[in-house]
Amino acid sequence: MSKKQLNVGLIGYGFMGRTHSNAFLQAGRFFDLPYKVNLKAVCARNADRVKAFAENWGYESSETDWRKLIERADIDLIDIASPNDTHAEIAIAAAKAGKMVMCEKPLGRNADEARAMVAAVEAAKVPNTVWYNYRRVPAVTMLKNLLDDGRFGRIFHYRAKFLQDWTISQDLPQGGEGLWRFDVSVAGSGVTGDLLAHNIDTAMWLNGPIKEVSAVTETFIKERKHNLTGDVQPVGIDDASLFLCRFENGSLASFEATRYARGHKALYTLEINGEHCSAFWDLHDLHRIQYFDHRDEGIVRGWRNIHVSDGDQPYLKHWWVPGLQIGYEHTFTHQFADFVTAVGEGKTCAPTFREGMATDLVTDAVLKSAKTRQWEAVGQ
Ligand SMILES: NC(=O)c1ccc[n+]([C@@H]2O[C@H](COP(=O)([O-])OP(=O)(O)OC[C@H]3O[C@@H](n4cnc5c(N)ncnc54)[C@H](O)[C@@H]3O)[C@@H](O)[C@H]2O)c1
Repeated sequence: MSKKQLNVGLIGYGFMGRTHSNAFLQAGRFFDLPYKVNLKAVCARNADRVKAFAENWGYESSETDWRKLIERADIDLIDIASPNDTHAEIAIAAAKAGKMVMCEKPLGRNADEARAMVAAVEAAKVPNTVWYNYRRVPAVTMLKNLLDDGRFGRIFHYRAKFLQDWTISQDLPQGGEGLWRFDVSVAGSGVTGDLLAHNIDTAMWLNGPIKEVSAVTETFIKERKHNLTGDVQPVGIDDASLFLCRFENGSLASFEATRYARGHKALYTLEINGEHCSAFWDLHDLHRIQYFDHRDEGIVRGWRNIHVSDGDQPYLKHWWVPGLQIGYEHTFTHQFADFVTAVGEGKTCAPTFREGMATDLVTDAVLKSAKTRQWEAVGQ
């Protein structure tokens, strides 16, 4: 029997537009999906460039206005891979039109936007997910399974970092193409929403909800020329953001994100320390988990360096042969495959918009605490 069709409409052809397009093409080749996925249309504002993108990736058509894309009866799924200031308006309109919605992170520029997005997809009862793709690194998924097995016992500590160095130059302008992350009106915040959001999503998935936070942020370069106006304007984003927190399970944590750590390009690391076990993961070595189990026999007890590449480890039976690792782009393929599978089974695919909102509630509390210089409870 021929499969049902799933017609995708992508918005944004930048960095994430490429990772998502690759996922749409690859998922059905490696996973047995309940739908045949069609790259129906891509939308971005520049007609020539969006056409060239469509040709390169095999989209059947292109649009320059996302509203037109949403109006189209031949589109089932709207995928939002455009900057943060577009997420809420597009997602709400897509949900009202009855489309499934996949949205890049952070869900909203703040929790209020996220709340309206959750209300829209839940009222329309449309499948939805947020692209927190690091959950789908096989090593990270495996760590989640180990924690859910109860091997770690009581959790005492969680530690996470996301370090980059690409914004150190004073001469870098803010705003516009490629540099919208500096413009607070577009991005919502700096590294808090851009980088820490990833750390927070993974942390809450692994270790449960965060109860309260105490944060410090800094904007090292206070003014930058704006690309769209040509004027030198104050910088409204946080360049660095650090916080301490308490999880609902009683464990304590520290988080740090910056774009001013010279030499680091995308150093996302996490460590978790429990009563029996500890584990450490590093994006630069994404197929490995460092794992320690205190219950091992004393004379050989030590840190194991587990190469997560075997068929009985998460997602890997779908790829090559044992011992061969996969990489960054596969995390998006996994998320898309999981989403389409969940849609076929009438189930939700985590993280849903509601789970994405939970991260925005934490980042709001972080930014508030940095201002008040007080501990702040995470809102509901
Ligand atoms: N999951 C991840 O690891 C990850 C990594 C990077 C970015 N992101 C998120 O993905 C989103 C996009 O980031 P990016 O790095 O791909 O940005 P980018 O600047 O590379 O691309 C943004 C794209 O959006 C298009 N666009 C902007 N406004 C638009 C509009 N009104 N209508 C249609 N298209 C529009 C631009 O033309 C461009 O193609 C952001 O929300 C970002 O936070 C997530």
